[in-house]
Amino acid sequence: MNKSFQISRRSFLARCTATAAATGLPWWFIQEQLAGAAEAEISQPKRPSPNDRPGIALVGCGGQGSGDARNAANYGEVLAVCDVDQTHADAAVKRFTTDGKTPAKYHDFRRVMERKDVHLIVQGTPDHWHTLVNLAAAKAKKDIYGEKPLTLTIDEGKQVVKAVRQNQVVFQTGTQQRSDTRFHLACELVRNGRIGKLQQVNVFVPAGLREGPFASVPVPEGLDWDYWQGQTPNVDYVKQRCHTMFRWWFDYSGGPVTDWGAHHNDIARWAIGLDGPMEVEAKVVTGPIPGGYTTPSEFEATLNWANGVRQVVKTTPDDGWGGWVINEKGQRNGVKFEGTDGWIWVNRDEITASDKELLHTALPTNAVRLEVSHNHMGNFFDCVRSRKDPISNIEGGHRSASVGHLIVIALRSGRKFQWDPEKEIFTGDGAAEGNAQLAREMRKPYDYSFIG
Ligand SMILES: NC(=O)c1ccc[n+]([C@@H]2O[C@H](COP(=O)([O-])OP(=O)(O)OC[C@H]3O[C@@H](n4cnc5c(N)ncnc54)[C@H](O)[C@@H]3O)[C@@H](O)[C@H]2O)c1
Repeated sequence: MNKSFQISRRSFLARCTATAAATGLPWWFIQEQLAGAAEAEISQPKRPSPNDRPGIALVGCGGQGSGDARNAANYGEVLAVCDVDQTHADAAVKRFTTDGKTPAKYHDFRRVMERKDVHLIVQGTPDHWHTLVNLAAAKAKKDIYGEKPLTLTIDEGKQVVKAVRQNQVVFQTGTQQRSDTRFHLACELVRNGRIGKLQQVNVFVPAGLREGPFASVPVPEGLDWDYWQGQTPNVDYVKQRCHTMFRWWFDYSGGPVTDWGAHHNDIARWAIGLDGPMEVEAKVVTGPIPGGYTTPSEFEATLNWANGVRQVVKTTPDDGWGGWVINEKGQRNGVKFEGTDGWIWVNRDEITASDKELLHTALPTNAVRLEVSHNHMGNFFDCVRSRKDPISNIEGGHRSASVGHLIVIALRSGRKFQWDPEKEIFTGDGAAEGNAQLAREMRKPYDYSFIG
């Protein structure tokens, strides 16, 4: 045996052992994953010029957008930052100034799209702005790392899928749990019948906030409130409607089910292996306070899938809305797959099963394999170079966001709906009521004509 191979094999095994100890994942799976990663690294095409360090623009410089752009800066140059709040834009200029190079600051994302040296967009605007920014970027032939949930409505999702495909841009949805080994393992085991026939998927998302009533206050200096509101109804400025807290208002988002639900329902769908459910019903468990946040902090929904799987999506008040633990003995957020022969539970911290052997026995070589990514942003940049589809591609982003939107429609209507996942329309009783909620009226000038 060649000596250099012996050394690299020894260090490879050491890496497997260290990873197994740190993650609690089964050894066979880590060995497979790390071997796959090494192969992928070797088979990477050389970065073509001028994309050696692609030019990046950050649109939406809040908490998540800034974090995403920080990751993206490992692979490219942040040349531009854009926000309708000057305070956030100024902070981003500071954050992304390196080696004396200062990114340009923009207020209007349409001007960013005109820059030829910007190859890709990292987009972290609130949900109600995702679609117009993504459409403008696709039309300008920029690749996109776009935050979850992909859209505000199902109809918007159809438009974005079309634009991404027509313009042949690379799109990664910010559902980063697809690049997390625990979720990958759980879904691969379920897909291969490790727990027998999958019967039920229980999704737990952290409960939302229940607060209010809120008072309107003067718009803070530097914030363009009209632009921030975009397509949504124009209302007086209320602090709790704006940064970070927009997710608890139906005007801008969908509450817990489009927030954490965008992640966990994506994982449920990965394991179920279908585009969308056939039936959805939902009920409010804890309703909002009048004059406060409008999305219910607690709800329960049931979806039925064509392969006989029942999916229950519930909030848990035992975890805080950001995922932190409130009640240690309570219900954690995560996904539980129940089959005829056992169950698997997975979340960002652990993977467990009804029987240890379900995890620790390796899959056969002819098993169904799911796509592998170990780094969501890295996977995006790999695809920017190779022009392949990232792990959370546009169709997947749309279909997983649609699960949340379907639940929101059922919650707001308080009735059961039949859904045709192929045609993407409601059918049967209540179809007209449901189909009327697939799109929303967009306030001018922030409708589709805004981006030309
Ligand atoms: N992948 C994840 O784990 C994860 C985590 C948190 C948030 N998110 C998603 O990221 C998005 C942003 O969430 P956040 O918590 O960072 O919100 P945030 O309020 O902190 O940031 C949003 C920013 O976008 C700016 N903005 C609004 N409209 C704009 C426009 N038209 N053009 C440019 N900028 C605009 C706001 O002023 C703000 O600075 C949401 O869609 C959220 O669901 C994803």
